[in-house]
Amino acid sequence: MKVIRPPDRMISVSRKLTHQGKTIGVVPTMGALHEGHRSLIQASVRQNDLTILTVFVNPLQFGPSEDFSRYPRPFRKDCRIAKELGVDFIFAPHAQQLYPKGFQTVVEVTALSKRWEGLSRPGHFRGVTTVVSLLFQCTQPTRAYFGQKDYQQALVIQRLVQDMRWPIKVSILPTIREADGLAMSSRNVYLKSNQRQQAASIYTALRTALERIRMGERNAAVLTDSVRRMLLENADLRIDYVALVDAKTLEPVWKLHGRVAILVAVWVGKTRLIDNLLVDVP
Ligand code: PAF
Repeated sequence: MKVIRPPDRMISVSRKLTHQGKTIGVVPTMGALHEGHRSLIQASVRQNDLTILTVFVNPLQFGPSEDFSRYPRPFRKDCRIAKELGVDFIFAPHAQQLYPKGFQTVVEVTALSKRWEGLSRPGHFRGVTTVVSLLFQCTQPTRAYFGQKDYQQALVIQRLVQDMRWPIKVSILPTIREADGLAMSSRNVYLKSNQRQQAASIYTALRTALERIRMGERNAAVLTDSVRRMLLENADLRIDYVALVDAKTLEPVWKLHGRVAILVAVWVGKTRLIDNLLVDVP
């Protein structure tokens, strides 16, 4: 496994591989790999001739009061995991290499980026779509892999690829969870033990809503209300949003039908967590 830092070097390597007719799987990450990343890497290794893992904590997608400087960066450990899983290249550019002096281009997906995470984290998706465009340009993926945990991000990236007519298949793979249901996230390490317990209630609340839908509840307001009430039983938990939305457009739904996403974003102490479940409503 090779670690590549300069973007130009990554471009020449990936172009050469493409010319040799190899398929390239790309797993974009900010490092601090967990089981969720592992499942993306494993899928890529299975489905492609070569896998490139990108590790880059992207300053453009963090707001001024967010956790950019304290975001975990266990690069050596990430390299060990990647090697063990069969990754061929890690592309880990330095920020000055990816955004050199004079860099001034942004890439933006409009409507799909507006609500939910877009409202709570202004500029976040612009940062994500800009860096993902650059990472794709450098790595030339045949397939790219994202987790359903960041559902809005995955849809925004699918839209980006479709609109730009890039020949990349974007796969969204299921959320990997801890034994108590908490979605795996690099930010879970911030949680103190009592907060960690409270964080598990996110999944319990989502599952309860899912059960109620299966039992016949179709009123979105009733369901959001019950999720909110369950979450608020936890002293350290503050709700950012709870929403039932159309799974394609992310527009709110009032009466459930078709494929629906239940979205939750909360603060547990100072840590912001998101999760979701998808449900097909007959
Ligand atoms: O999901 C992430 O880890 C990041 O948002 C991504 C897609 C790697 C872009 O920086």
